Amino acid sequence: MVTCLIGLGSNQGDRVGNLLAAIAALGEDPAISLQAVSSFVESAPVGGPAGQPNFFNGAAILATSLPAQALLTRLLDIELRLGRVRGERFGPRTIDLDLLLYGEQVIESPTLQVPHPRLRVRRFVLAPAAEIAGEMLVPALTDAEQRVSIETLCARLPDPAPSELGLRVIMSAAAMQRHVREIQLSGRRVGVVPTMGALHSGHLSLVQEARRRSDYVVATIFVNPTQFAPHEDFTKYPRTLDADLSALSAAGCQAAFVPSAEEMYPRGATTTVDPPEVALPLEGVCRPGHFRGVATIVLKLFHLIPAEVACFGQKDFQQALVIRRMVADLNVPIEVVVCPTVREADGLALSSRNRYLSAAERERALALSRALRQAEQSIQAGETESNRIVSAMRETLAAAGITSIDYVALADPETLAECSHVEGKTVALIACRVGSTRLIDNCLLDPTIDAGSAKRGAVRA
Ligand code: PAF
Repeated sequence: MVTCLIGLGSNQGDRVGNLLAAIAALGEDPAISLQAVSSFVESAPVGGPAGQPNFFNGAAILATSLPAQALLTRLLDIELRLGRVRGERFGPRTIDLDLLLYGEQVIESPTLQVPHPRLRVRRFVLAPAAEIAGEMLVPALTDAEQRVSIETLCARLPDPAPSELGLRVIMSAAAMQRHVREIQLSGRRVGVVPTMGALHSGHLSLVQEARRRSDYVVATIFVNPTQFAPHEDFTKYPRTLDADLSALSAAGCQAAFVPSAEEMYPRGATTTVDPPEVALPLEGVCRPGHFRGVATIVLKLFHLIPAEVACFGQKDFQQALVIRRMVADLNVPIEVVVCPTVREADGLALSSRNRYLSAAERERALALSRALRQAEQSIQAGETESNRIVSAMRETLAAAGITSIDYVALADPETLAECSHVEGKTVALIACRVGSTRLIDNCLLDPTIDAGSAKRGAVRA
């Protein structure tokens, strides 16, 4: 068996999806044994037409009994299957697979050159390869040269320009933990933004806040199966990985952790977090088991990314309380920051699920922020009876044709105990279905603030 290093790149279509598909195809080949896969690093294209998208590049180590030329044919075959069209040199491509090293052999044939001729000068190849290459050596090409490790070659390149430091996409839990440790050892504070992808400006505002509070931001993208009940929308939850990665990169996020379900929940993993009491009412009643899934995955993410600070949105008000309580109760050394809900100009709270709404449903969904605004106004006008405020909110929803209401509640913002009178700080919360889409929204209310100064945290259209 010969140990080989493969380079992978994609800058067309679902870039990371293409790289993962190529790796899956390598893994399925009986003549190939896949040993390690690097993270994927974003880089600007070198040469080719102007304006083409950035690449994601990675590397893989495999062992094979195939001769080098036969292995190259296998790689070309995978490229073809994944829609590679050979056009302009250095032009955009769904997938590019390069044989970088074939053991320590030097091969110079009209169709194959190994080591790859540009291996020594391309950081976007060397950096991911260095993560996994370990003891692999690049053979000398001349008598004056010496065999050298990939890491040494990488260290010989000049320091990367900031423009070369694109988003790093990490799929492996162990690699993620290692990477964060390295960042922290270099003296940088790490911020984490856990998400399920399908990102919108609300998520990006969390990235901005994490950037303000740390030096290195990791966003996680994982549609967590354990927080969905069997009848919920797990399989149809929107998955927009390529757009998400572009948005994170543009927002200045440095790394994205994108694990598979098997990586997060390996076979036999049965330990869960028993969520705190604040998980019991409201969402806890409507979505039994939901917060057990959330608390478990968030704690796991905090272990894999032991950041100094984590940012969550106020839109998921109860989730933020559950996470805060869990962090305090289980002594997790992380600061939890809850950031304001981001709304469209007309008041609709941003949500990944808004994309399910038809135009007519979107119009009806405005009733949620309208009902919250109405609660805010009636409290500012002196109303304190929760029943009356909640009834008026329900009427507003009903008037918009929203009849499937899970709850409309006024509650203590720390414990979520429902209150009969609004006397101090209170949170108004709504969960309902617009068409088949379940939406939630909330607003913090403070009867001690008068209408004129009640601008902070207000729900405005
Ligand atoms: O809020 C979310 O998107 C999810 O519940 C979270 C916190 C990422 C856990 O899966």
